[in-house]
Amino acid sequence: MPLVNAKEMLTKAKAGHYAVGQFNINNLEWTKSILLTAQEMNSPVILGVSEGAGKYMCGYKTVVGMVEGMLEGLNITVPVALHLDHGSYEGAKACIEAGFSSIMFDGSHYPIDENIAKTKELVAICEEKGLSIEAEVGSIGGEEDGVVGAGECADPDECKMIADLGVTMLAAGIGNIHGKYPANWAGLSFETLAAVQEKTGTMPLVLHGGTGIPADMIKKAISLGVSKINVNTECQLAFQDATRKYIEAGKDLEGKGFDPRKLLAPGSEAIKATVREKIELFGSANKA
Ligand code: 13P
Repeated sequence: MPLVNAKEMLTKAKAGHYAVGQFNINNLEWTKSILLTAQEMNSPVILGVSEGAGKYMCGYKTVVGMVEGMLEGLNITVPVALHLDHGSYEGAKACIEAGFSSIMFDGSHYPIDENIAKTKELVAICEEKGLSIEAEVGSIGGEEDGVVGAGECADPDECKMIADLGVTMLAAGIGNIHGKYPANWAGLSFETLAAVQEKTGTMPLVLHGGTGIPADMIKKAISLGVSKINVNTECQLAFQDATRKYIEAGKDLEGKGFDPRKLLAPGSEAIKATVREKIELFGSANKA
């Protein structure tokens, strides 16, 4: 199946009270592991690409070529969206040109009027080209690609202003942060989430920073209108741990254990296990 935008899968998720996972990709192994797991679980999936990861993978066109090739080569039949994660205005335009099916424009660091103006312009382009678009209000804390946010709670009225521009999905800061949560993390602000959901109605809401949020909080967030959950660091940690074990066990020194197809296999399997666990938790299995 060719790439699809994220509108239909997220509208269904919102109505059906489950969430679709966005898993960020970094290379071929990452992408393959995520696609195979989504297919195995008959789940829709969103592949997230940060601007840094896009650059690492040799540009957005390379990413589109790789993903489209895999959809065909692996016979992937579940809905897959290729989505720019935390895009700048210029990055969003570049991904639209390169053939992404979905973009996020993160204007959360601009004053609200500028966020609105830029989001509005990109909404019009995405509408014309059939892409879905995610906007953000209230910056998500933690560090991603060198951008550090403090983990704000979004203003529900500002969320409504951005939602009314016709975006497909909205990321609202509710105390969530990227990367590992510190021991003194106060948890998600369900009060903010409920207020945002009340103002934005049927708009699918996005929860960033999915790594390390306890399962009961994830379930509650879904019950309050979250329909897309982003996971990045957790796959990286799973890959790192499995790769470390392989090396520490000396497996790379046995026979052809140095072959990258062997060396990267445990990490790839670990990504699959993480994605499987998340798809189960988010409730999107068999919703393709
Ligand atoms: P984590 O790295 O904390 O899982 O966050 C991912 C994310 O929100 C990508 O936008």
